[in-house]
Amino acid sequence: MSKNNAKFITIEGLEGAGKSSAVELVKQIITDHCHQAPICTREPGGTPLAEKIRDLVKIADDSDPLCDEAECLLFYAARTQLISNVIKPALANGTWVLGDRHNLSSLAYQGGGRGLMPLVKSISDACLQGFKPDLTLYLDIEPQLGLARAAKRGALDRIEQQELDFFIRARETFLAFAAEDSSILVIDASKPIEQVHEQIRVALAANLV
Ligand code: TMP
Repeated sequence: MSKNNAKFITIEGLEGAGKSSAVELVKQIITDHCHQAPICTREPGGTPLAEKIRDLVKIADDSDPLCDEAECLLFYAARTQLISNVIKPALANGTWVLGDRHNLSSLAYQGGGRGLMPLVKSISDACLQGFKPDLTLYLDIEPQLGLARAAKRGALDRIEQQELDFFIRARETFLAFAAEDSSILVIDASKPIEQVHEQIRVALAANLV
């Protein structure tokens, strides 16, 4: 059991959904709530080894294309490393954790996008053994809109270069999981940023107890 009921909160969403500014807002809200800043993580990444894995999945190597199953395993290698060495120790120490992506991304992108749901679910069960965020804010955006925003930020990485249908399937999967799990709150991220942030404030005010 963690001291002081420290919580693990995650932010999820397709590219261009506005995760980065949402992370900053939620970090401030948690800090005000707890009088202590949360530990912020990102996935893949967040430990030295997991950051190396981030490069492996983000940067395309045409001489050795990453197969879908290997991609999936790499995300879980990074995640289990992060959970073991950062997330669980922080929670046990009473420190809240704010995650920029977590397991729901694998369910959506590898499970839905790549069509590997049985594999993802079995690896997820084996690696995470029921560990999950207390609360997830899923920033929902149409892929066309999100990808157009992401393209304005610069060159697209290996995953951002997938075909549109991949992101349409990923979004459907995010929404399907949100419909089944009351710990996943859907935020309409297509709205102007002030309205998105207001939705986040309202959602957290009702759920940070
Ligand atoms: P981002 O953190 O900058 O959004 O980049 C992470 C990319 O990796 C993004 O395209 C989503 C993708 N991803 C997966 O496909 N599966 C996962 O489990 C995670 C964490 C990320």
